[in-house]
Amino acid sequence: MTTEIAQLGSGAMFDKIAHRYDFVNRVLSFGIDKSWRRRTVKRLQLGEHPRVLDVATGTGDLAIDIARMVPGAQVFGLDPSPNMLAIAAQKIAKRGLTDRVTLVEGDAQALPYADCEMDAATIAFGIRNVPDRSRGLRELARVVRPGGRVCVLELGEPRRGLLGKAARFHTRHVVPRLGALLSGAREYKYLQSSIAAFPPAEEFAEQMQAAGLHVIEVIPLTFGACTLYVATPTEEQ
Ligand SMILES: C[S@@+](CC[C@H](N)C(=O)[O-])C[C@H]1O[C@@H](n2cnc3c(N)ncnc32)[C@H](O)[C@@H]1O
Repeated sequence: MTTEIAQLGSGAMFDKIAHRYDFVNRVLSFGIDKSWRRRTVKRLQLGEHPRVLDVATGTGDLAIDIARMVPGAQVFGLDPSPNMLAIAAQKIAKRGLTDRVTLVEGDAQALPYADCEMDAATIAFGIRNVPDRSRGLRELARVVRPGGRVCVLELGEPRRGLLGKAARFHTRHVVPRLGALLSGAREYKYLQSSIAAFPPAEEFAEQMQAAGLHVIEVIPLTFGACTLYVATPTEEQ
C-alpha cells in the first residue's frame, strides 16, 4: 500500500487520478453512472430555491445535475481534493453555473455548516472513502433540516444470479485492471477492494439509522452494483 493510498479521507489519493476520473468512470460504468446520479436528484424531492449540499463532490457531476434539474437550487459541493475540485470548477464554469454552485474544500467528518442549514444533502461514491463513516453520516444528519432528504449513492458487490455474477466479475476483475490501464494509476485497485469491503445494503442502512438518519428507501440499481439510500434526519436530531 502506497503512502498516498494510505491517506484515506484526505483527498490525496483522488488528487492523483483527478485528471482522468471522469473518463475512466464513464468507461468502467458504460455511462450508467450518469443515470444513477439523475435518479438520486429526483429522490431529493426538492421544493423551490433549496440549499443542497453535495459532499465528496469530486469533479462535480452530481452538484451539476442538481443545479440543472432544479433551476432555483443553490448547490454547495464539498471535497478535500483540490485537483478534483479544480476540474469541477472548470465544468461548472463551462456550463454557466458558477453563481449556482459553490465549491468548498472540506471534510465530510467536519462539515463547515450550521445545524439544519441545508434542505437536502447527497454523497455519491464518497462515503466509502470517509475514514470515520459514522461521523460522516452524523454530519449529514446534522446539517439537513427536519424533513429534508439525505441521499447516499454507493457501489457494492453485485447480487447473486447470472447478471449479478457478470456484474461481480466486472467489479472484481475489470474495474481494477482497466481502471489502472486507463488512468495509469494503481489507485483503481484500491477502489475495487474498498467496494468489496463496503457492507451489504441492509447493514449500511442500519449504520445510517444508528447515525441519526431514518432510512426511507433502499433502492438497488443495476443488479445491486450500486445502491441508492434515501433518508431523512430522525426527529431527535
Ligand atoms: C469516487 S469520488 C466521487 C466523486 C463524485 N461524488 C462522483 O459522483 O463522481 C470520491 C470522492 O470522495 C472524496 N473524499 C475522500 N475523502 C473524503 C472526506 N473525508 N470527505 C469528503 N470527501 C472525501 C475524494 O476526494 C473524491 O473526490
